[in-house]
Amino acid sequence: MSVAEQSIAGAEARGHGFLASSVGRKVIMAATGIVLFGFVTVHMIGNTQAYLGAEGFNGYAKFLHTMLHGAGIWIFRAVLISAAGLHVWAATTLTMDNLAARPVGYRAQQNVASTWASRTMRWSGVILAAFIVYHLLHLTTGTVHPNFDHTNPYANFVSGFKVPAVAGFYIVAQLCLGLHMWHGVWSFSQSLGLSHPRYDGLRRGFAYGLTFLVVGVNITYPIAVLTGFIH
Ligand code: HEM
Repeated sequence: MSVAEQSIAGAEARGHGFLASSVGRKVIMAATGIVLFGFVTVHMIGNTQAYLGAEGFNGYAKFLHTMLHGAGIWIFRAVLISAAGLHVWAATTLTMDNLAARPVGYRAQQNVASTWASRTMRWSGVILAAFIVYHLLHLTTGTVHPNFDHTNPYANFVSGFKVPAVAGFYIVAQLCLGLHMWHGVWSFSQSLGLSHPRYDGLRRGFAYGLTFLVVGVNITYPIAVLTGFIH
């Protein structure tokens, strides 16, 4: 079966409900995208504790792991995993359906209405997914961290970013996050019906502002360690 035939079969298998419609799946992508972007924004703010030193950062990590008697982090993880799973599912099935609907290959594609960021959503999304897997193995479980200490998240943070290749990968991943966020924030407001000439300036400003803030601050963490500002 060709990719197109598989996609058509997949689209048919999805039936005719809200989730089967492309609008329904775009709404799912928008809603889960808001949850995920909300998380990266809060995560970026939380990590600023690294600038307060070991005590501040480790105190913050302890709070995350002990809130609601330890249940808080698991509730939060369940929400994140569900949102990420639904987001990837909607993105993959919408991409498959689009490929099936496209009569000719990429070369005939009209890029007039789409921006560079929108065309890069797929690969920036795939790099981000790979980054998240690596990041969890690096700073949460310590599996790929050479000096991981379960009792000292601050030390893990500092010794982790002292490796230039690791710091470089984090920086590249943040640039992908920036591309993904910029277009994502812009298009989720569209999927939720907020597209109107009167609000487009506001939407654009919000998309740029949030992206620059999250990516800009995130990039300072590896740089601060590499330059010895955080040690
Ligand atoms: C340079 C930027 C970043 C730094 C310095 C950073 C730092 C950290 C640290 C230290 C932890 C472990 C916290 C702990 O267990 O106490 C963590 C966990 C995590 N980070 Fe990041 N992070 C960054 C960017 C990101 C991005 C961009 C994402 C998502 C796109 C992300 C997703 C996560 C997730 C899902 C966890 C696991 C939370 C849990 O324990 O369930 N991080 N991060």
